[in-house]
Amino acid sequence: MKYIGGSFEFTPEILASNIIGEVNEQIGVSEEKLCLTKSGRSGISLVLKSCHKNLSEGWILMPDYQCWDVLTVFDDIKKKYISVNDKLELEMSELKEFLLDKYLRGVFLIDYFGLSDLQPYIEFIKSRRPDVLIIVDAVQAFLSLVLSVNRYSGADVIISSPRKFLPIPDGGLVISRNEHSFFIKKNNKNHNLNKQISYYITAGVLRNSKIKNLFDEETSNVLESLYLDLFENHRKLFDNKVEPISPLSLEIIKRSDLRAIAKKRLKSFKWVSDSLKHGNCSKIISPIYTEKLGPGLVFPVRVHSHQRDSLRNYLKSKGYFCPVHWPIQEKQLPLLGESSKRLSKEILGLPIDQRYDLKDLSKLLDEINMYKKGR
Ligand SMILES: Cc1ncc(COP(=O)(O)O)c(C=O)c1O
Repeated sequence: MKYIGGSFEFTPEILASNIIGEVNEQIGVSEEKLCLTKSGRSGISLVLKSCHKNLSEGWILMPDYQCWDVLTVFDDIKKKYISVNDKLELEMSELKEFLLDKYLRGVFLIDYFGLSDLQPYIEFIKSRRPDVLIIVDAVQAFLSLVLSVNRYSGADVIISSPRKFLPIPDGGLVISRNEHSFFIKKNNKNHNLNKQISYYITAGVLRNSKIKNLFDEETSNVLESLYLDLFENHRKLFDNKVEPISPLSLEIIKRSDLRAIAKKRLKSFKWVSDSLKHGNCSKIISPIYTEKLGPGLVFPVRVHSHQRDSLRNYLKSKGYFCPVHWPIQEKQLPLLGESSKRLSKEILGLPIDQRYDLKDLSKLLDEINMYKKGR
């Protein structure tokens, strides 16, 4: 069985490949405007620390559909939430109202899966409230940054997370409008980070042996439970502290051809989009984005008729690991509008990353059709 989706596996060969270019060169940003952090959250913390005085004198506006782990970074800032509709767009009428409040100090916009068109919001906000800080969460859009220059033009700060797209143990970034706006001191004594890197490398090596089917079934199952634990230990060590990216991640990014990776993802994305447009799998899933195409984090779909978890488990049993962005916990329910609640019960991400080719994706769609037939 081929394994599709799930965490990236680090393989040492990448360190023997040629240097393609520094991160800032590959994403087309000057070195002075870029700050490399440990994670997306670490990047958001850095921004919030620098703008804390201004933001804490008022409040920040955020979409009611988001990665809930991130909310803790904003703990000591007052927040209000704007509804997100079925297509993961902001409700414009609500936005107009919120912009009338003089205590509004910042707007946090999310580029969902790297497929949102945020430009109209940025322009609208800046035209009505040039004083308001616009922070773009482009954590899921790292490769969109690589393919399009001047994305989010007019935004004050952009945050992203290369670690979501590459086999690296950590890595986030902050792009500022002005030079030298953000800076992190080097921390050579961070043992936690070394531990985190060890977890990641070991998990990757084990996962790699598993997916290559190098062992008998029993050993393979043991390997799987070991690497799942290790990935979980690695994940748990991320926090909201402001810290720089590790030298290992930096080295891997420099040797990764980001443009080629982005193009491969884009091709896969278009292929799945065309296939679904022609009615493939339409009885069970429908795409959330029909127009905007990009080297997305995943291909996000809605699963009809309360079948999301059952389809997800079925696909898992066939070796396809499809993430859910994002499950909601009970305590967040009061913050969400109806549309966001529905979305979080129906959404599923189909893996389209650079490890797979069109044959793999075709088999994934076949499996989804098989699931439908089995009902
Ligand atoms: C939209 C969004 N923002 C921020 C984050 C946090 O990024 P990181 O996990 O690199 O801290 C995530 C994480 O999944 C995310 O999906």
